[in-house]
Amino acid sequence: MNMKKLSIIITAMMAVCIMQSKAQPMPEEIKMNQFIKGLMSKMTLEEKIGQLNLPSAGDFTTGQTSSSDIGKKIVEGKVGGLFNISSVAKIRSIQQVAIEKSRLKIPLIFGMDVIHGYKSVFPIPLGLSCSWDMALIEQSARIAAQEATADGICWTFSPMVDISRDPRWGRIAEGSGEDPYLGGEIAKAMVRGYQGKDLKASNTMMACVKHYALYGAPDAGRDYNTVDMSHQRMYNEYFPPYKAAVDAGVGSVMASFNEVDGIPATANKWLMTNVLRDQWGFNGFLVADYTGINEMIDHGMGDLKTVSALALKAGIDMDMVGEGFLLTLKASLEEDKITTTQIDDACRRVLEAKYKLGLFDDPYRYCDEKRAATEVYTDANRLQARKTATESFVLLKNENNILPLKKNAKIALVGPLSDNRLNMCGTWTVAGDFEKAISVKDGIAMVNGKPGLITWAKGSNIVSDSLLEARIGMFGKATGWDKRPTSVIISEAVKASENADVIIAVVGEAAESSGESSSMSNIELPEIQRELLKALLKTGKPVVMVLFTGRPLALKWEQENVPAILNVWFGGSEAGAAVADVLFGDVVPSGKLTTTFPQNTGQIPIYYNHKNTGRPLPEGQWFSKFRSNYLDVSNDPIYPFGYGLSYTTFSYSDITLSKNSLKPGEKIEVNVKVTNTGKSDGKEVVQLYIRDMVGTTTRPVKELKGFRKIDLKMGETKEVTFTVGVDELKFYDYNLNFTAEPGEFKVFVGGNSRDVKEASFVLTE
Ligand code: BGC
Repeated sequence: MNMKKLSIIITAMMAVCIMQSKAQPMPEEIKMNQFIKGLMSKMTLEEKIGQLNLPSAGDFTTGQTSSSDIGKKIVEGKVGGLFNISSVAKIRSIQQVAIEKSRLKIPLIFGMDVIHGYKSVFPIPLGLSCSWDMALIEQSARIAAQEATADGICWTFSPMVDISRDPRWGRIAEGSGEDPYLGGEIAKAMVRGYQGKDLKASNTMMACVKHYALYGAPDAGRDYNTVDMSHQRMYNEYFPPYKAAVDAGVGSVMASFNEVDGIPATANKWLMTNVLRDQWGFNGFLVADYTGINEMIDHGMGDLKTVSALALKAGIDMDMVGEGFLLTLKASLEEDKITTTQIDDACRRVLEAKYKLGLFDDPYRYCDEKRAATEVYTDANRLQARKTATESFVLLKNENNILPLKKNAKIALVGPLSDNRLNMCGTWTVAGDFEKAISVKDGIAMVNGKPGLITWAKGSNIVSDSLLEARIGMFGKATGWDKRPTSVIISEAVKASENADVIIAVVGEAAESSGESSSMSNIELPEIQRELLKALLKTGKPVVMVLFTGRPLALKWEQENVPAILNVWFGGSEAGAAVADVLFGDVVPSGKLTTTFPQNTGQIPIYYNHKNTGRPLPEGQWFSKFRSNYLDVSNDPIYPFGYGLSYTTFSYSDITLSKNSLKPGEKIEVNVKVTNTGKSDGKEVVQLYIRDMVGTTTRPVKELKGFRKIDLKMGETKEVTFTVGVDELKFYDYNLNFTAEPGEFKVFVGGNSRDVKEASFVLTE
């Protein structure tokens, strides 16, 4: 036998060995399977169904846990877990009921919406995404897990990865914007941060990617509304972040409230089983969203028994709050509407999650009373939250370099959010202590150390309608209603500006203007705040607009009239200090938008990775008859995806490619030199886009395929190299095959999706 043949045989044998070893479950998995099999063999049908029940905790004092309604259910084995309870004392006392009083002593799993930090609150996810810094994002989730587990929680309903192109939808605040690739990278970073390397460690927690699927695309941007889209769009544009979370090993998935292909996601077997489990290999457990099963009655899918059976059959393992599983699954089984195997599978997956978290080894693993005192809301965590917030801010405009401000400048600080702590954390902060958050007024005084240099006035209410103000001041996040006439409040602010060198107007939305069930039909700055800005501009003093918002706003007027605009989203518990860090230049802003800002509400949905159409409007034009455009507004956004300024400037060299054609298996290197051409050190997010020029289906005009955040000292040049292979060129074709098609590709590199350098290459067979 010659050497070549021998080596082929050896390689083949090795391949067989690898395949076999892959198919063999790991020893830990065998142990888990045996343990759960043994446990399930002792469980009654009722106890199995009980594991699928996730009621809301309600309120109870620790001493009365077992006599409360929930307590009784726990004793009977009718509860699998609880959520949104914090404090080790409470969680321990509830766990004790399960361990000491229920027949099989199965521990409960404790969940919570730990969305952007725990007590040390980080920027809202949309803000966080604008940092484009995966290490920082991962670290924010790591700290959240550290703090939440110190308070007894081991399961978080995060990351929320719903792609959204609709800023009317309030929950755009909770996601990472409009791009599937960036969304996927962030999903992975968050899962890594929460789950760490060892789920059993007492400071890591199980993540739950949500809301599967397509929740960010409701008709008209109205929360919970109907979603209808092609499978191609799902696979190419909306699914990637969920899949990325699954690839990163996320332990659980939450179903979305909306329908998909005419079937509510919660009952959609194709979505929950065929795609998620069979195609993507997800092996964790699936939880319905809050009363998501019951809501299928209103969707028109049948009565509680019917919809509960539909959800189980589709692949849902745990029923959040609604108790449809608890109340009806037994009857459905007796009527042969569902099978024992379906109940067993769901029960097994819930038990596996508990096993993976180490709860069977030690049900009190997350109940160390001492930890909270030293691990929650620590100086180090708060400092990290502050640093992270500065990285999330996006400088939208800075005429004549008004920013950064001198620390000895006399400042008039005005605006409805200038002296407000309660709104700093933004939406979805279950554990945050809003009273302790740092307001912009506190932050400025902290950073310039000269409270005497600030004159303050409220300037205006957040909106002119007091009923709307009440709707957006929910969950203890009041904006403070000033009953005086608007003209009086505004003149007071103008007066306060008299001796100032600069006016800082802190305006925008309230924390709860975005978030769940907070859709808006008009996304412009409230008129009353514009009136304030107009009065301030009339003084002739430089005006810096600090914008709090949970969604892109239509800032056409502001862009045209206000000289400097710093978008600070909702920066979390340390927001005000972070705002001051950036205003005074201790930190140079480097955030870049992850969602397009439209000129007006009517342009929605507007997103950078759109298709070309058969009648595209030539670039730089406004209106051309019989082209795809509007009569009354140009097609341009006010700020494109990827956009954000710095206190310095950057220039890009032309692109050089390592070659002009690519075969499967090969890679091309895409090279640019980026130079800091301005007057301070800074950071730049260098972005790589491609365009597939010809396809068997139409392809987007640009798609993000890579990015690098680099530090550049004043005058410094760095070379940035991206590697593009066939994988970066693949997409789901008409038959949903993930494939790259030969032909011409353009490649673009730049500091945002609009202003780019361009080159092209060919993919050959
Ligand atoms: C939201 C979820 C959340 C759940 C539990 C629902 O209303 O849609 O995102 O995790 O409540 O609080």
